[in-house]
Amino acid sequence: MARSREKAQEFLKALGMSTDSIGVEQLLAEFRAEMDAGLSGAPSSLAMIPTFIPIDRPVPAGTPVIVLDAGGTHLRAATVVFDEAGRAQADDFARFRMPGADEELSAEAFFDCFVQILLPLAHKADRVGFCFSYPAEITPDGDGRLLTWTKEIRAPEVEGAYIGRNIGDRLKARGIDLQFTLLNDTAAVLLAGKSIARIQDFGSYVGFILGTGTNTAYVEDNRRITKRNDLAPQGRQAINVESGNFSRSPRTAVDERLDEGTNNPGEYTFEKMISGAYLGRLSLRLIKAAADEGLFSGRGSPHLRQVRRLSTVQADRFLRDPAGAGPLGNPALTGADRETAGFLISGVIARAALFAAVNIAAAVLKSGAGRSPVRPVCVNIDGSTYYKTRGLQPQAERHLRDILGGRGVHFKLVRVPDSPLIGAAVAGLTRP
Ligand code: BGC
Repeated sequence: MARSREKAQEFLKALGMSTDSIGVEQLLAEFRAEMDAGLSGAPSSLAMIPTFIPIDRPVPAGTPVIVLDAGGTHLRAATVVFDEAGRAQADDFARFRMPGADEELSAEAFFDCFVQILLPLAHKADRVGFCFSYPAEITPDGDGRLLTWTKEIRAPEVEGAYIGRNIGDRLKARGIDLQFTLLNDTAAVLLAGKSIARIQDFGSYVGFILGTGTNTAYVEDNRRITKRNDLAPQGRQAINVESGNFSRSPRTAVDERLDEGTNNPGEYTFEKMISGAYLGRLSLRLIKAAADEGLFSGRGSPHLRQVRRLSTVQADRFLRDPAGAGPLGNPALTGADRETAGFLISGVIARAALFAAVNIAAAVLKSGAGRSPVRPVCVNIDGSTYYKTRGLQPQAERHLRDILGGRGVHFKLVRVPDSPLIGAAVAGLTRP
């Protein structure tokens, strides 16, 4: 056991993947510098997209709103209404595959899928809050233009198109008039965190997602968003950081090789180091690289070399039950082989936890709030990778306490169920 751990640790260290070799303070400083650059319009890997969502509008009770939640590979629709106490009641739930997740679609076919989903709901409300989990430039009227697809969605003609307008116009042609408010899923998660503010007073709000993809939203003063000159200087709004594209985190040779095989090489390299779409693949590449360095037995190596795919969920299962079935489960592996593979996967997760913590800390610090223990920064975290991958959440939270606690900054981590739906409903109902 001790020997397997030592070998794995030496290997991770030599590769540059060990958390000991990561300069946390420098990384945090670079994250914050990229955020500043993105706000001013200077070259930056962080798009820092204004959402035009002020977070302090009251949410009307008793008014229904249609919500759409287009996530990684799924699409959900529902109607939501808030009661007088601010509690959300959801109804009319329906679940679909995300158009473009299984096959390449034309723009016409893509938008038509949404028309078909909305037709049976259209008589229930006249507004749609649309949680859209892909990078989109938001316009002041609440629509959004897709910048680029992430999460391997294939509908190339939709890139550059306005999402709400395209669906809305097609519905209008059928005599249906709906007002669309498009928002990023992290902005929705931030708003869902805000929706629990009646329980506690918070200094500011952050929304963080670590699921198939990753991203962050926080609240910024308009006067600091200097790349735009059309914002009321006294106002504030949620910013979609698009943190998955952060380009300054140190990459290893294994990260580079994984990136080369994706749909968008060179882009979203941070997402490729921490999110659910990639942690399993990265672990497998790491295990194969370790096999090349002789870290596994003569019987185990050939088996490991021929494993084709490992998902994040399968990697997590292996950690919980190393002798169980799954792509890595083969009798040829010795006990020591399994331990070494487990330590390597844990190394990938440990680095993801540290990077996630740096990312969250940068947003909390950028908010400028949390100086008083009675008004901490509310950080609402969503995403199965964060909560379900073994060791990720506790390690991320330990790093966060070190980074922010050491600076006297107070924060509170919360988890609001159904955040994307609740946030989309709030955004749809509060648009003037
Ligand atoms: C997208 C973001 C999204 C995040 C989390 C990323 O791939 O670029 O817009 O917020 O995934 O779903």
